[in-house]
Amino acid sequence: MTAPNAAATPGRAAEEQRQPMLRIDLAAVASNTRRLRARCPRSAFMAVVKADAFGHGMSDVARTVRAHGADRLGVATLGEAHALRRAGLTGPVLAWLTAPHSDFEAALQDDVEVAVAGVEHLRAVAGAALSTGRTARVHLHADVGMARDGASPEQWAELCGAALRLEAAGVLRVVGVMGHLGCADDPDDPHNRQGREAFDVAVRQARRVGLRPRHRHLAATAALLNDPRSHYDLVRVGAGLYGIDPTRRAGLRQAMTLTAPVAAVRDVAAGTPVGYGHAFRTDRPTRLALLPLGYGDGLPRQASHRAQVLLRGRRRSVVGLFSMDQIVIDAGDDPVTPGETVTVLGPGDAGEPTVEDWARWAGTLPHHLLTTLGGQPRLARRTLPAPPPSPSASRPSASRHPASRHPADLEIPA
Ligand SMILES: Cc1ncc(COP(=O)(O)O)c(C=O)c1O
Repeated sequence: MTAPNAAATPGRAAEEQRQPMLRIDLAAVASNTRRLRARCPRSAFMAVVKADAFGHGMSDVARTVRAHGADRLGVATLGEAHALRRAGLTGPVLAWLTAPHSDFEAALQDDVEVAVAGVEHLRAVAGAALSTGRTARVHLHADVGMARDGASPEQWAELCGAALRLEAAGVLRVVGVMGHLGCADDPDDPHNRQGREAFDVAVRQARRVGLRPRHRHLAATAALLNDPRSHYDLVRVGAGLYGIDPTRRAGLRQAMTLTAPVAAVRDVAAGTPVGYGHAFRTDRPTRLALLPLGYGDGLPRQASHRAQVLLRGRRRSVVGLFSMDQIVIDAGDDPVTPGETVTVLGPGDAGEPTVEDWARWAGTLPHHLLTTLGGQPRLARRTLPAPPPSPSASRPSASRHPASRHPADLEIPA
């Protein structure tokens, strides 16, 4: 974490005057974690920190969410899981997207749980368990309707049978069964019910062959907020931690803010063409303000002609096509001067656009913009720490989750 250091760092205003600046507010991540946690009191909570925690900095976020109530961490790749261990993160970590030829020995040495979607895959994990002498902890991954990752219904029985044999041989333990919903953003979509039913079938089949998965997990952010029936024993929550709220009612707070200084201003006449292709012409005499960031810094060029920023407390339009390194703001009659700070996106407190606004202007998802902006090497970055957790936020999970104390006592719908 980049701790504020009064001696070594200039003040916030000075930093923002100097360069485009990405700020990560870990207090927002902490508060989102607590709010989301409170929405699933009977389930354990896996915080999803893949893709560098959606661009927010994986190790900082992982430490924050663990301190504020997350029981486990989830990532897509083994590389991400190893990075968490290297950063000193302890506790359960699941990596759900591995290929059958991945280095499962290294995964086991690092005490990483893996999701498995096929028999070949399972055998590879078992081979690594034999060669390392460590018992693998696996989650069987069922495709419940996305035709993406996860075993198909046709492959499921064979996968469960193979897993049981390897479990009986002491090579691995099936600690979870997972699925993922494709349409959970829309609570009225009938595919959600179908996905839940397919998941119940998969869990029943697993139990029928004799497996006793402790963690049944299906819900991500949207299902967590929209449908308690999807919570099962564990929820896997990514987007919501960073303030993406599919319901718009959960009181989550965006953790990322992007500002940029005005690099130059010019007063122009009506009819002045702006930027490449002269794709915009001013409709009145106006002041144009230049910002030193563009699509080379992760701003989506598709938002040209639609995007706005906050300048002197007012929304102002970005005009002309985005360039790689610069965008132009129509400041109207505001007497804006170089060095003033413009908020490109933020939590919306002062009326600035949010990442959801930008996603709409660009025809993409907020997830896409957060991961893109968070990975930009040219953007200066500052991470603001979260307050220490209250004692109740860091209680051990077993005291809150009956299911995690009684692994064999799972309630499976008939
Ligand atoms: C398998 C899986 N589970 C959980 C998540 C977290 O989803 P969300 O960010 O909507 O909470 C993702 C994210 O893409 C995922 O792929």
